[in-house]
Amino acid sequence: MEAVILAAGKGTRMHSKLPKVLHTVGNKPMLAHVIDSAASAGAKKIHIVVGNDGKQVKDKIRSFTFQNKISWVLQAEQLGTAHAVQKAIPHIGTKTRNEHILVLYGDVPLIRPDTLRQLLASTRANTIGILTLITAKNRGLGRILRDESSEIIGIVEEKDASDSQKEIQEVNSGIMALPVGQLESWLGRIERNNQQSEYYLTDIVALAVAEKVAISSVVVANEMEVQGVNDKSQLVLVERHFQMTKSKALLEKGVMLKDPSRVDIRGELNCGHDVEIDINTLFEGNVTLGDNVKIGPNAVIKDSSIGNGTQILPGTIIEGATIGEETILGPSARIRPGTILKNKVKIGNFVETKNAVIGKGSKANHLAYIGDAEIGENCNIGAGTIFCNYDGANKHKSVLGDNVFIGSNSVLVAPVNLERDSFVAAGSAINANVPEGHLAVGRAKQRNISGWKRPSKEKNS
Ligand code: UD1
Ligand code: MG
Repeated sequence: MEAVILAAGKGTRMHSKLPKVLHTVGNKPMLAHVIDSAASAGAKKIHIVVGNDGKQVKDKIRSFTFQNKISWVLQAEQLGTAHAVQKAIPHIGTKTRNEHILVLYGDVPLIRPDTLRQLLASTRANTIGILTLITAKNRGLGRILRDESSEIIGIVEEKDASDSQKEIQEVNSGIMALPVGQLESWLGRIERNNQQSEYYLTDIVALAVAEKVAISSVVVANEMEVQGVNDKSQLVLVERHFQMTKSKALLEKGVMLKDPSRVDIRGELNCGHDVEIDINTLFEGNVTLGDNVKIGPNAVIKDSSIGNGTQILPGTIIEGATIGEETILGPSARIRPGTILKNKVKIGNFVETKNAVIGKGSKANHLAYIGDAEIGENCNIGAGTIFCNYDGANKHKSVLGDNVFIGSNSVLVAPVNLERDSFVAAGSAINANVPEGHLAVGRAKQRNISGWKRPSKEKNS
């Protein structure tokens, strides 16, 4: 089976320079969702019909899956859905002559592979299958016409419909399974003498019925599956449904979401058992949470894995990190890419880490920057410590052995090596290595000056 995805429409109502089908749901372009569904339903080749913004669409979609299945088709002028499918015909494999193609829309992103399989299963050789929807919100949609014995005999677009036809609540979702063999001949006979002067794909239904071709239909149970996106409100509607579906799936697996409507998952989230996620949490990319992990509120976690029993306290931001077990992060910590925290580490408020490996049981409880560092076990990084990793041109590394203590408000000017059990006095600027077990005092000696007068305020003249 092959699929054709129509994606050439201009998307004027999005009021955006970004092609409509590249607007995202769950951080993934709508078109990529449709491609994934078509591929999962068994499409071996997926023809995507794009307009003049096609290059932008191709460039973006290239970073997503199923590349080898995609063929791009240009429809320079958008003369209607039939015209769009016609452009794809020459690209459809000759071996599929006896099969069906699935017609999908690039702006209907929530369609499920199961539904597509059902639609295909409803067809027989050379028949047409239509995915329909029964809804009172039928405005703007093509109405399904049936005869006395309930057989589909045609589809009429709203703009061409009579008043009584407008009352019909069964509508065309736009998604169809069409027999490749006859398609070309039907498309060649479609005319554009309608209200919109467009070549309507829906007109092939009446042509097929005239040739005694059977039309099957599947009524979609959840209307969100065929919800199209034409403007930002519809995009939000689809996004919320998508997120709620993800939340429900997590709840079903036993993940405790304090409020399923206040968690966003823009990617894949894998959770162990007894995970608790508080409100306003955002997950991006691939995130793995071990058993008994507690998150949030107001946490942002991207492309990271978090070990068993770890707690992420409010307002913490984590990206590209590997976090060990029984670690406590935050509140308000910032863990940046390349951070590897071993078990039982504590990173407190307003601590930033970047490209840092921090050993078991080590702590940085307040106000520090730890960049390009390798820190041993059971170290203590005092409040206000800065790892000066950048000399204005290059990055350098600081290495701390086990049990190193850094007094508050110290700077470690990298490259520097502090051997195990060494101790840095508060307020030191350390720019030379410290041997094992030594105390390093890197600050001016304090002088106490007697009889000193405080400056007094000058009198206004
Ligand atoms: C279409 C159907 C209508 C159905 C509705 C469901 C037709 C004639 N009508 O109407 O029965 O109820 O979808 O949403 O098919 N496109 C192209 N090239 C074109 C025209 C459209 O690629 O020349 C693409 C659009 O980008 C869009 C899809 O086809 O993804 C549907 O086009 P649109 O103009 O939205 O059709 P509707 O009028 O909504
Ligand atoms: Mg539409």
